[in-house]
Amino acid sequence: MPTSPLRVGVVFGGASGEHAVSIRSALTVIQALRATENQERFEVIPLYIDRDGRWWEPTVAQRALDQNRALDANDLPQPLPAPGLRHWPVDPDTVDLWYPVLHGPNGEDGTVQGLFTLMNKPFVGSGVLGSAVGMDKLAMKAAFAAAGLSQVPYVGLNATDLEDPEQREQLLTRLEQELGYPCFVKPANLGSSVGITKACNRDELLAGLHQAAALDPRLLVEQGVKARELECAVLGRRHLRASVVGEIRFDADWYDYETKYTEGRSHTLIPAPLPASVSQQIQAMAIRACHAVNAFGQARVDVFYDETSGQIWLNEINTLPGFTSQSMYPTLWEATGIPLPQLVAELVDTAQE
Ligand SMILES: Nc1ncnc2c1ncn2[C@@H]1O[C@H](COP(=O)(O)OP(=O)(O)O)[C@@H](O)[C@H]1O
Ligand SMILES: [Mg+2]
Repeated sequence: MPTSPLRVGVVFGGASGEHAVSIRSALTVIQALRATENQERFEVIPLYIDRDGRWWEPTVAQRALDQNRALDANDLPQPLPAPGLRHWPVDPDTVDLWYPVLHGPNGEDGTVQGLFTLMNKPFVGSGVLGSAVGMDKLAMKAAFAAAGLSQVPYVGLNATDLEDPEQREQLLTRLEQELGYPCFVKPANLGSSVGITKACNRDELLAGLHQAAALDPRLLVEQGVKARELECAVLGRRHLRASVVGEIRFDADWYDYETKYTEGRSHTLIPAPLPASVSQQIQAMAIRACHAVNAFGQARVDVFYDETSGQIWLNEINTLPGFTSQSMYPTLWEATGIPLPQLVAELVDTAQE
């Protein structure tokens, strides 16, 4: 007797700077869920969140997918409701499992995970805690430090620390003494390198701090390291598995927004040319990083590796990694022996564990 397919609600788009990438990721996920080998297992119910956070039903969602672009006010059914989640676009009982494909704030940060938890439905990826901790670089680094994981030296601060001129001068002196130059200034809660600057002197440091402070009340400054950038994908729930390690190479001083999103400015090496022992250390570190923040289901862990000293530093965890056909996460699993249709099926299975 054939069983009826599992109805998977794929939610994509979102009120985040990574809206467009989310649409491309959703296209890849949905195509894989609808692949021949999965056809009888899953029925996809796509839901689209516009840039203002309104949730839209499958017919509108399918339009965003078909056009592979953000739908703006003119493309959406009128009259437009107020921004934000106003009503649930489908009967919640017609969805068996949720699959969020949202990057950045309002989706990767525990908000949507909280909603699914309240609905009492399984969903792909980390829960509220892992998503929220993974999103905020200060919370993430505190959790990594508590787990004894190696990271570059850093200082966390609040935007308000810059207000008083005297306090600001003291802070700059402290940053110079503790971290030196070059250093990297980051807003705690963005992504895609948005708001990050490299500072090589006090003027650049102050300018970077003001720029980051305009985007986020929580900031951090990190000692700059000269290192290779490596990434490892993690999959599973009770038992986490790590993929082969991949490397990003780029023709820029560092991996800034422009370099990330300009065709031909970067390329990947999969697997990364590394001694086996280094790969194994990074894989073990990736799993420990997930445990440290309570991330599960899927995660991509990024590290810095200085081949001269052999030092490995954990950089960050992404609990809802990019999932376009070119993205590192699915590519790393493909290279590890898990093709895309099997990967999405395993992610769904993991959510049901
Ligand atoms: N401490 C550091 N030393 C050297 N390069 C860094 C450092 N921190 C960040 N970078 C560069 O900036 C990029 C983006 O930083 P990251 O913390 O990964 O932010 P995002 O979450 O936006 O990807 C990194 O890929 C790397 O090229
Ligand atoms: Mg990064």
